[in-house]
Amino acid sequence: MAILFGMDEPQDFDFRSFHALYRVAMIVACSENGVIGVDGDLPWHLPVDLKHFMRSTKGCSVIMGRKTFESLDRPLPNRLNIVLSRSMSDEGGKRSDGVRVAPSIEDAIAIGEVSGMESPIWIAGGGDVYRQALDRAGLVDLIVRTRVHAQVAGDTVFPELDDRRWDRVRCEDFQADEKHTHSMRIEWWVRRSVED
Ligand SMILES: NC(=O)c1ccc[n+]([C@@H]2O[C@H](COP(=O)([O-])OP(=O)(O)OC[C@H]3O[C@@H](n4cnc5c(N)ncnc54)[C@H](OP(=O)(O)O)[C@@H]3O)[C@@H](O)[C@H]2O)c1
Repeated sequence: MAILFGMDEPQDFDFRSFHALYRVAMIVACSENGVIGVDGDLPWHLPVDLKHFMRSTKGCSVIMGRKTFESLDRPLPNRLNIVLSRSMSDEGGKRSDGVRVAPSIEDAIAIGEVSGMESPIWIAGGGDVYRQALDRAGLVDLIVRTRVHAQVAGDTVFPELDDRRWDRVRCEDFQADEKHTHSMRIEWWVRRSVED
């Protein structure tokens, strides 16, 4: 079920067109207590959220930390994977796996901007990268956050959003079922142009 804050509900929410209005967006799934990862992996298996991630980021540049990249079986298909790392090499942009490597968030954004991929440029974790990106005032325009309704043990967290800086403009609820151990809510947060 969709719940909309402060705007009329369109018949079918065209989330890709909505996302494309923004330059840099963040996508994350976190538990009620902020956990996003455990032992280098996700703490849950939630196929609906995975599908939401894949549909949202398809055709776009996706920036991720080296540890998150290493947790994948292979680079995300149909996207430009931009890995933040000071220990990996970009090989002059000619790596055989098609991945680009950037030594800073600014360099990663610059690669995304000239890539010819669709908007937005997504920041997709992990905890280290989310934290640094949120600390850069004005960098991230949109946050798409899945709130997993559970208290989860883990070693990597996503910070609480400051509601003086962020407005929640939309959310969608999903119930637990035989394939989903937890219920969840996908929330869209837009950066306020002027803080209160
Ligand atoms: N629930 C979710 O939505 C979600 C999404 C993504 C990831 N995760 C989870 O998060 C965990 C991984 O997060 P993490 O915090 O441990 O690691 P991470 O953020 O994925 O990667 C950290 C690494 O990124 C590189 N890095 C970070 N900032 C950099 C910068 N400014 N410039 C250059 N390189 C930079 C460094 O690599 P080098 O050491 O090579 O320099 C650093 O060691 C895993 O459990 C993963 O499953 C969860």
